Amino acid sequence: MLSERIVERLNQIVGAQRVLLDEADLQRFGVDRTTIWQANPCAVVLPGSIEEVQQVVLLANELNLAIVPSGGRTGLSGGAVAKDGEIVVAMDRFNEVINFNPLDRSVTVGAGMITANLQEFATEQGLFYPVDFAAAGSSQIGGNIATNAGGIKVIRYGMTRDWVMGLKVVNGAGDILELNKGLVKNNTGYDFRHLFIGSEGTLGLICEATIELARPPADSTVLVLGVDSFPAILDVLRTFSAQMDLSAFEFFSQSALDKVTAQMGHAVPFATQTPFYALLEFESAAEAELDKAMALFEQTVEQGWVLDGVLSQSLSQAEALWKLREDISETLWHWQPYKNDISVLVSRMPGFLREVDELVDKSYPDFELVWYGHIGDGNLHLNILKPKALSNKDFVARCVPVSKEIGQLLAKYEGSVSAEHGVGLLKKDYLHYSRSPLELELMKQIKKVFDPNAILNPGKLFD
Ligand code: MLT
Ligand code: ZN
Repeated sequence: MLSERIVERLNQIVGAQRVLLDEADLQRFGVDRTTIWQANPCAVVLPGSIEEVQQVVLLANELNLAIVPSGGRTGLSGGAVAKDGEIVVAMDRFNEVINFNPLDRSVTVGAGMITANLQEFATEQGLFYPVDFAAAGSSQIGGNIATNAGGIKVIRYGMTRDWVMGLKVVNGAGDILELNKGLVKNNTGYDFRHLFIGSEGTLGLICEATIELARPPADSTVLVLGVDSFPAILDVLRTFSAQMDLSAFEFFSQSALDKVTAQMGHAVPFATQTPFYALLEFESAAEAELDKAMALFEQTVEQGWVLDGVLSQSLSQAEALWKLREDISETLWHWQPYKNDISVLVSRMPGFLREVDELVDKSYPDFELVWYGHIGDGNLHLNILKPKALSNKDFVARCVPVSKEIGQLLAKYEGSVSAEHGVGLLKKDYLHYSRSPLELELMKQIKKVFDPNAILNPGKLFD
């Protein structure tokens, strides 16, 4: 409970109607998509300007209050969970286009802009914002930047980081920093912009971002292939990517397909059932690309890797096929999954896959596992579904030792314990499998520089 005096100070900064204290608001703003922690913030504030954000941060420093920055709260690692009486600073009101510059092909937006709205704005200008993922309809740009969101087009367009040309932030000390000012070339020492990207709200609050926009792609075709085995997915990837510029190469298991079709009412891609499915997307303006895709498809069938397949014949069919992959995450919430978001180099994937498969078979004989992910960039999502009979606490306790073993395997293969979801609360105990003790120590020292009183998102990334 905040004292009346502190509530009054917050009211003075953002206006009384922008300080939310109702239990329903605290519950709503105090969690992301994870289901492990209980929301328990002391207040939610909705600032409307960078100066107001600054005032809130200065107040938090003065009174030693912790802040949890909050975007669309679609995160999957607990990075936006406020469980210890923190003030949630929600960026929802920073939802406008501030400046569009067609010559620079860039747009400056408030951090609270919804990803899909930015995509739509770019399309209206005849341009394209290529970072895309299932949560685009509710995630906010600031949160995407804070977690360096990836998604379904990374093999073609990279991560969020690759599109951020500038940032305006308030750091933990309450200073306003303008980072890189949208410049393409700027070799003037350390580029703090990149430090804030992926920092998960531990260094500062992102208030504005200047985003580069791309030229729009030509119409795309989607190919869904029924694949015979896990290793065969990599054979298919190698075959196609050697000859075609793919914009996506995703995969999912039969159990993921079963669940997404049952829960969402989507049609199966074809009658044949196969252990795994690969979803490929490529630009198909030229007929030759379609011919090439068909020839490669036949080649993969001849090799015995692919058992069936379908090529989209229209935009609506392409969209329907994409839904089979994109709706998996939403579908699985029904089972309160424990999420692993791991990556290794694609070249090291065959050995890693074999070992991780053996490990989970041994460790989870009684649990249902659902595999899917962005295998084209080395990123696997291994979801462990909670059996109904187990409490959330017991379920997480069962998953922890296996996560450690997966962490050890990732260390052996020099992979990442968090490919794209971020570390937050969920992965911080495993961070040392991917980052050296020296790196972890340097991260803590950097945190001290930008957030000397440790008021920003305490307990996230590391303790
Ligand atoms: C996805 O690839 O669907 C997202 O990262 C979300 C998830 O892993 O559940
Ligand atoms: Zn993903």
